[in-house]
Amino acid sequence: MATPVLQLENVSRSFKKGRVEIPVLRDIDLDVNELEFLCLVGESGCGKTTTGKILSGLLGPTSGRVLFEGQDVASLKGEDYKRFRRSVQIIHQDPYASLNPTHTIYSILSFPLFRHGLVKSRQQARARVAELLAQVDLTPVGDVIDKYPYELSGGQRQRVSIARALTTDPSVIVADEAVSMVDVSIRISLLKMLMAMRDRLHVTIVFITHDLALAKYFAWDGRIAVMYLGRVVEISQTPSLTTNPQHPYTRVLLSAIAEPDPDRTRHKEHIQLRSEDIPRLTELPPGCSFHPRCPWFAKGLCDRHVPELAPVAALNNPEHEVACIPLVEGAELEL
Ligand SMILES: Nc1ncnc2c1ncn2[C@@H]1O[C@H](COP(=O)(O)OP(=O)(O)OP(=O)(O)O)[C@@H](O)[C@H]1O
Ligand SMILES: [Mg+2]
Repeated sequence: MATPVLQLENVSRSFKKGRVEIPVLRDIDLDVNELEFLCLVGESGCGKTTTGKILSGLLGPTSGRVLFEGQDVASLKGEDYKRFRRSVQIIHQDPYASLNPTHTIYSILSFPLFRHGLVKSRQQARARVAELLAQVDLTPVGDVIDKYPYELSGGQRQRVSIARALTTDPSVIVADEAVSMVDVSIRISLLKMLMAMRDRLHVTIVFITHDLALAKYFAWDGRIAVMYLGRVVEISQTPSLTTNPQHPYTRVLLSAIAEPDPDRTRHKEHIQLRSEDIPRLTELPPGCSFHPRCPWFAKGLCDRHVPELAPVAALNNPEHEVACIPLVEGAELEL
């Protein structure tokens, strides 16, 4: 198997708030394979953005390792470290906050080109910026290049954010909720563009979203990792994860997706959770974090032992992994 382009090995990350340590990510193992479309899915606050920032080197882990092309990022120096930072680019969650309102689109996009020494003159910079704008379908380029962000629509601004991520010719783009702030019709065209970019520019896409329906429809040939309270609870190829979801949390997320056919929505499984309350990160329950809500809770097991990701024997798919002790041990479970 080829070396994954990025790997998280046992990565944890916490933040200090006063004297309290908030464990935001715990023991994450995650491979990002070359040219895949990997979706990180989960509810608000489960740690998706933090994972994206760690993958792109904007944040370091509190413990564990991040590997880029098989090399520990912490050991990269000089030119090698710069290459890692150039190669993995993030599109931030909020395109309003991330584009400087006092700079024109040309100046926003040419800044990283000059900083990384990718262009030598203003003429070269303008030509490259025009090329980037065309790559994200912001044409005619002349209508956009000298404008300020506030003069553009939300969808156009998001395309500028994507163009900025492309300035350094990255091999990986982490798109953090890159389409959630725009209207549905624009969302679809942005997503199609991201997918086309993967094929045309050979970039690996890590797509972060709280919307499992979006992941399901757009990453059909990719993989989905479902996160809950700072951990990955299930990961697999999209068809396997969405047609054979294993973890009760994944099943809850899937059952919440509305189907175009009302009959199918009506026949969806309804999962009765033991509790609707999501525990706070500062008061995490022992063992499996999902156990206070889980219909399969087994006393003395789920509240004592932290489940690791492992394949479920019944599925016969070693790449479909789930963090649930009763499931992995093959217990007879019903919802
Ligand atoms: N710099 C920070 N300092 C303190 N706490 C933080 C910091 N960054 C994130 N957190 C906390 O970590 C948790 C996870 O945050 P994160 O932004 O990664 O979640 P998310 O899954 O991206 O959520 P959303 O869907 O709302 O974007 C949240 O409880 C958040 O308040
Ligand atoms: Mg986020």
